[in-house]
Order: sequence, then structure tokens, then C-alpha cells
Amino acid sequence: MWTALSEFGDGNRVMDAIGEEIRALKESLGRRLLVLGHHYQRSSVLRHADEVGDSLELARKAASRPEAERIVFCGVRFMAESADILSGPSQTVYMPEVLAGCPMARMARLGDVERAWADLTSRRDDWLPVVYVNSSADIKAFCGERGGSACTSGNAAGVFRWALAQGRRIFFLPDEHLGFNTGHDLGLRDEEMALYDPAAPGGGLSDAAVARSRVVVWKGFCIVHLAFTLEQVAAVKRLHPTARIIVHPESPKDVVRAADEHGATSKIIDYVATAPRGSTIVIGTELNLVERLAERYRGEKTVLALAPSVCANMAKTNEQNLRDLLRAWPEEQEVHVPDRIAVPARKSLLTMLGL
Ligand code: 13P
Ligand code: SF4
Repeated sequence: MWTALSEFGDGNRVMDAIGEEIRALKESLGRRLLVLGHHYQRSSVLRHADEVGDSLELARKAASRPEAERIVFCGVRFMAESADILSGPSQTVYMPEVLAGCPMARMARLGDVERAWADLTSRRDDWLPVVYVNSSADIKAFCGERGGSACTSGNAAGVFRWALAQGRRIFFLPDEHLGFNTGHDLGLRDEEMALYDPAAPGGGLSDAAVARSRVVVWKGFCIVHLAFTLEQVAAVKRLHPTARIIVHPESPKDVVRAADEHGATSKIIDYVATAPRGSTIVIGTELNLVERLAERYRGEKTVLALAPSVCANMAKTNEQNLRDLLRAWPEEQEVHVPDRIAVPARKSLLTMLGL
């Protein structure tokens, strides 16, 4: 017991030493360095971030700080790529852990997407691609080359409206749940939406299914948000009948429809901020964000996780690899999207930002 406690004490001193070193390294570069941290990062990393936000807010920050020669992105790869695409030529984006990828982004591979597009456009000619920012840069480029737009979970409804108002059918990728939930929010019936499975011939869709679909969604998902279930929602309603439940729209549609509210990261944060004092809010999204909100409102409101679901890739960034990056700036940790991909990918991101 005593040994364990003294080890824990030493561990805290080591952590503080790392924190001090990161602060000193950051200070030595001043405004030439910008550290960006996504809401799903652990708090020990976020205490070093100059800006904390969702993926879109952080990409915008990267673009709005031209004096920052070095941008450190504490998040996952697609976010760092978007920052590189939107930042200026004299800025370099780095990741503390380059292996921090998003499994959902990897579910849409360019070759498969091109084959699906050829199939769909051979059957109808009025498709417009819409790509969730949680995708690799080559998929954003694919979309930009075809006049489509990127979207985030926060503005997907607006981008869908823009596409539908042009009389186009939407080919949305790579998250089937965000696609179905957004279509439903806009009043589309389930029969007007269909799932394209790249592993099945013709995506598993008959010509009749394609003809009646106004939105076709790619078969892809976020494992973190797939952890939320109807049973958990029912249990909360039983145990905390006055609690309000809000979930991220990457969650399955039955969970989204059973919850009181759904919305992107920034909406979830606002929902808790504006909930009355004394209320209980149960959240279905990544655990680090939920725990931080619980801490911020402790004694004022009760914030609970619908289930403790952690993004293992976000968790790959820690104070140690952040410190090691700031010490040595290894070239292998730079994130560069080649121009042939960055130029059309930028088009899809700028279309979204302009809407
Ligand atoms: P945001 O776009 O809200 O930052 O979410 C990113 C993400 O990875 C959600 O799972
Ligand atoms: Fe990807 Fe899901 Fe992690 Fe977000 S939470 S980075 S979508 S795996």
C-alpha cells in the first residue's frame, strides 16, 4: 500500500515535470507555434492547447493564424490533413502520434468509392457527392472534383439542403448513421434513403431502390458511437426519469430517435451549458468530453455518460509524445497532403465553409 502510494506520488512529479517542459518548449516558440486540441483529447493534453474545439473549428483556427509556422494537431489524422489543406504554404502541421487515425475514415477507400460512383451514375445522372470531414483527403478531393461539398456533423443538414435544393440526389460518405439521421432530420422518409454496401454487387441496391432514393449512404460507422444502444436509453429513462438524453448523430438511428436531442460536439456542449441548474443530462458521445463537462458543471448539474465509450485513436496522443515532438520536431511527424489531392480537397472544404 505504502509503496503504491509513493510510486503514485513520484508519478505525479514526473507528470508535472513533463507539463513544465511542454510549457517551456511552447514559450520558446511563442506565436510561431499553435497547438490545437480536439474535444475528445484527454485533459492532460488539452491543458497545453492554445485552441480547443471540434474538427471544423480547429481547421478554421489553423487557417486564421498565418504567423504560426508550426501547427501541432492533437486529434486524429483526417483533422490534421484538413488543417494542412486549409493552412498556408509557410505553415507545417505536425501530429504528436502519426498513427492516430480514424477507423471510419478508412472505411471509404478511393478505388471502392470510384467504382460505386461509376455504378450509381450509370443508373441515374443526378448525383452530388457529400463527404463528411471524417474522411481521408483523397475522398474529399474526389468530392471536390465532382462539384460536391464536405460537411461536419454540425452543418450536415445545411449541406444536404443545399444539395437537395439543386434537385440532386446525395451520395453521402463515409458514415451511414450521420447520413440517415441527417436525412431524417430534413423530413426524408426511410424509404427515400438507402445503404450502399461496397462489398455487395451493385452496392446491394436494385435499380428500383436507387430510383426511389434521394440519399444513398456509404456503409461506414464510428465504433465509438455504435456503442450506444436502445437498451441504454431505456435504462436511463427507468433510473433517471427526469434526465434529458442527448446523443451524437454518429449514433444509430433508433438511439437518436429515442433520445431527447441529438447534435454535434458543439451542440452537446451548448445543451449542457443551457440546461437548468439541478438538471441531469445523459450524453452519448466520447467519454473524455463527457467527463470534462461533468467536471465543469459539478455541483450545479449532473452530467452522466450513456455508456463509457472512448476513442482509442484520440487516446494515442499523450503528454509524452507531445513533449517528444516539441523537443525534436521529427520530419516523419509532419502531415503533408500532396497538391494534386490538396487542391480539389480544399475545394470541397471551401464549398462547405462558404455555405
Ligand atoms: P467533430 O466534427 O464534432 O469534431 O467530431 C469529430 C469526430 O470524430 C466525431 O466522432
Ligand atoms: Fe473516428 Fe469515431 Fe474516433 Fe471520431 S470518435 S475519430 S469518428 S473513431
